[in-house]
Amino acid sequence: MHVASSRKKIAIIGTGYVGMACAIGFAEFGHTVVGYDILPERIRLLQRGMTPYREAGIAEALARHLSEERASFVEDFESAVDGADFIIIAVGTPSLSDGTADLSAVEAVVAQLSPLHLNGATVVLRSTVPPGTSDRVALALRGSAEVVYAPEFLREGSAVADFLSPDRVVAGAESAEAGQRYCALFSHLNRPMLVMSLIDAELVKAASNAFLAMKISFANQVANLCDGLEADALEVLGAVGHDRRIGSMFLHPGIGFGGPCFEKDLKSLIHVMNTANTNASLLEATLEINDRQPRRIVETIKDELGDDLSSFRFGVWGLTFKGGTNDLRDSLALRVVDEILAAGGQVVAYDPSYRDGATESQRFELADSALAAADADVLVVLTDWPQFAKIDERAIAARVRRRLVIDGRNVLDASALRDAGMTYRGIGRRRTVDSLELAETG
Ligand code: UDX
Repeated sequence: MHVASSRKKIAIIGTGYVGMACAIGFAEFGHTVVGYDILPERIRLLQRGMTPYREAGIAEALARHLSEERASFVEDFESAVDGADFIIIAVGTPSLSDGTADLSAVEAVVAQLSPLHLNGATVVLRSTVPPGTSDRVALALRGSAEVVYAPEFLREGSAVADFLSPDRVVAGAESAEAGQRYCALFSHLNRPMLVMSLIDAELVKAASNAFLAMKISFANQVANLCDGLEADALEVLGAVGHDRRIGSMFLHPGIGFGGPCFEKDLKSLIHVMNTANTNASLLEATLEINDRQPRRIVETIKDELGDDLSSFRFGVWGLTFKGGTNDLRDSLALRVVDEILAAGGQVVAYDPSYRDGATESQRFELADSALAAADADVLVVLTDWPQFAKIDERAIAARVRRRLVIDGRNVLDASALRDAGMTYRGIGRRRTVDSLELAETG
């Protein structure tokens, strides 16, 4: 743990992924954190060391900070913020049906803060908000607190690690001093500290997520082209990513991006662009490509088995929106499962973090191991859990009756599966031979 030169009291409003990463992260830096949530049952669980979601190391870190009294959780808003040097707002901003962000939770927190004597506290907004929101928050709190907008770039499953090791710290602020006060909390990390206006920082968040989503849609388009040309997307995109101007991250083709952030943030940005009379076609195409991408799985299945799937049982590996989380929100894996069901197929699914979902299991069966799910006609991989790649290919081949694997995440070893007698279809992968075999024969 880093021992902060000057220990601050940091109130965290909202204990979801972002709030919890801030709470654990600032406690790791040696500060005293007090968490508050509108859900009293969540606070009571946190007081007993139970986290609202799973992430490597988070339960141990929470237990340590509770016992060393660096972290506490309270049901009363005013006592959470009383005497705080920083008040972090990390409440949800979900999408409304027209794509705009629902800011009611942020507004409710600001309304609770407005009448209080905040004694020069710095209010730090970390929820993702449309441009202009922080300026309105600053106006509402003028005279009682200075406002900073500090976008978060945390990924689910590694949110605490991402908090502790940011690529950069971005602080949009009403004044340079307020921005620097926030950045000082991270000064021991020696990372770039970027202080800017509130609206610029809001746009950093929007543009970062839009770019990452665009990169994934681009990778998926290249992969789809590779499928059409019998080329190998992993070879092509791997070499493309070695160009340092491009970079290899977020170039992995698959069934598309899911999760609670990208689609919501893109829709919100498109709405803002339309309102500002700015052409949003690049972002619209990013969403449209992503919307179409999961359909490739059922198309590939039908290509192999014909249009009527009613006599087939599909073993599905992975339901969450990505490996390493237990989050089903906007999971494209579930979309693919629905499409298989709609085409008449039966589904038995296995997910390492999702074994007791009552609602889902009404639509399809849940298996309690990957190999149990593979006891089917066809195996379909929909989430990139790393453990799937470790499963013995001969054990897979012994179970999958039609000897067909559709790998929607390109996580399995194509040549080992082919050696075991399976037909392997990935996203942007050659159907018959891998490139090494091709080079040897050519
Ligand atoms: C994302 C951003 O990365 C993070 O900065 C922001 O704060 C919140 O949104 P997260 O939603 O946790 O984080 O997931 P991320 O790891 O970015 O993956 C998003 C989706 O894209 C997943 O469905 C993932 O499987 C998919 N993905 C990611 C790809 O299909 N290909 C890739 O190369 C990378």
